[in-house]
Amino acid sequence: MTMTRTESELRAVAKAADQGHLFDFWSDLSEPQQASLLAQIDALDFGVVDHLRGLQKSSEPVAIQGELEPPETFPLLRKGATEERARRASQLGEVLLGAGRVGFVLVAGGQASRLGYKGPKGAFPVGPVSGRTLFETHGRKLRAASKRYDCAMPWYVMTSVQNDEATKSFMKEHHFFGLPEEDVFFFSQAMLPALDDEGRILMAKKHELFLAPNGHGGVLEALATSGALRDMEQREIDLVSYFQVDNPLVRPADPMFFGLHRLADANMSSKVVDKTDPDEKVGVLGRIDGSMGIIEYSDLPDDLRKARDADGALRFRAGNIAVHAINRHFIEELTRDGLKLPWHLARKKMKVCGPKGTVTESWGTKFETFVFDALSESSNSITFEVSRAHEFSPVKNAKGGDSPETARRDLCALYSSWVQASGRELPPADADGVTPVEIDPMVAENEAAFVAARSRPAITPRGHHYDG
Ligand code: UD1
Repeated sequence: MTMTRTESELRAVAKAADQGHLFDFWSDLSEPQQASLLAQIDALDFGVVDHLRGLQKSSEPVAIQGELEPPETFPLLRKGATEERARRASQLGEVLLGAGRVGFVLVAGGQASRLGYKGPKGAFPVGPVSGRTLFETHGRKLRAASKRYDCAMPWYVMTSVQNDEATKSFMKEHHFFGLPEEDVFFFSQAMLPALDDEGRILMAKKHELFLAPNGHGGVLEALATSGALRDMEQREIDLVSYFQVDNPLVRPADPMFFGLHRLADANMSSKVVDKTDPDEKVGVLGRIDGSMGIIEYSDLPDDLRKARDADGALRFRAGNIAVHAINRHFIEELTRDGLKLPWHLARKKMKVCGPKGTVTESWGTKFETFVFDALSESSNSITFEVSRAHEFSPVKNAKGGDSPETARRDLCALYSSWVQASGRELPPADADGVTPVEIDPMVAENEAAFVAARSRPAITPRGHHYDG
């Protein structure tokens, strides 16, 4: 970090912003610690901090402003004209992929705190037989697509300060999972200070501000400032395939999705799964006074969460799996004059440096923006329903739902169904009733491809692995 202001100037600025406490431990600090603290303060945008403080003061429980309606979806079960459209979309998507028009953006800046995993979440092993990590699973899908379409599949990986180094070295150590190094682009999202209940910036240590990633909405700005958008432009990429690190079943290179998005002349589109349990922790897509949006599970009032249609299905059932198709031009437009996504506040207990300089638990507020809030700016948008069994089983919690255990069960169930469809033999189920089979994305990306593939399993003590 290069400093532009002196200590006394920064003291004055902090004091004027009612953040003078940032210097409370100054005399306890070594010279390098003082320098580091000054650099952090110098990098702060006090205007933004002030704005966040205002929001914190005025913050009321989030209410949906306007009439919420379910979105029209492109359905999973199709016939007639819809099936014909799906076929045309797939063809178009294949052309886009084959012409190198798609770039892949993975958001992996989160802190994996619910999973309780130290290190980047992408380094978490999820392959039920191979023990392959999330990063490798995604990387191999891109490599498979690159082979299938005989074209580069550039990968833009968003990290945050906390996991940037670790992510880069992990990927490097694993030779980018066989992708050419020049096709893997790392960029980091911005950090923001967390505030205590009086709006004062929290400290993590005597010489360290408590900073947290600014939410995955930060991806749009970071794509612009890091030069990633420019890189895409040079490569003539005009469509971004956006996905999260936590879902091992994600299909980042799905031609039908890109084709549907393009045929509808949309700026930003989403994949959804059918939400059947009102308590499932997924956001839902909806139109608020006509404009498309995603209402986070924590913000959906009880009556709407449980509302049902005449046929008994949940009224708001378009469950967000955090997979989007976004036009590069749309991101450029959104970020041209500074992006203004709404802020979401999360008040929680945090381990901070207390007034005596020791670590204490205290209430604080983190501030995030969400990428899906950009949907309301998209003139057209496709909501594409996909199969949960085929495309969604995130790893979020250490135990219970959305955990390594449920992901293992879901992956094995999907792969066993492919093995069965192909007439190949399955290994016996283990004590948990799970049939331990894994199919490498390099072998096949769907059942039909697997049936056609001439692959044999490696038979290991952990199960059968069809490795490409
Ligand atoms: C998210 C969605 C939810 C959706 C669900 C599907 C939000 C707010 N909610 O829930 O609507 O149904 O996924 O699985 O997104 N990340 C960053 N930087 C950040 C924060 C997060 O890169 O500053 C990344 C994480 O690494 C992770 C993803 O964003 O890949 C999801 O973030 P998380 O906060 O865990 O959202 P969920 O509660 O899982």
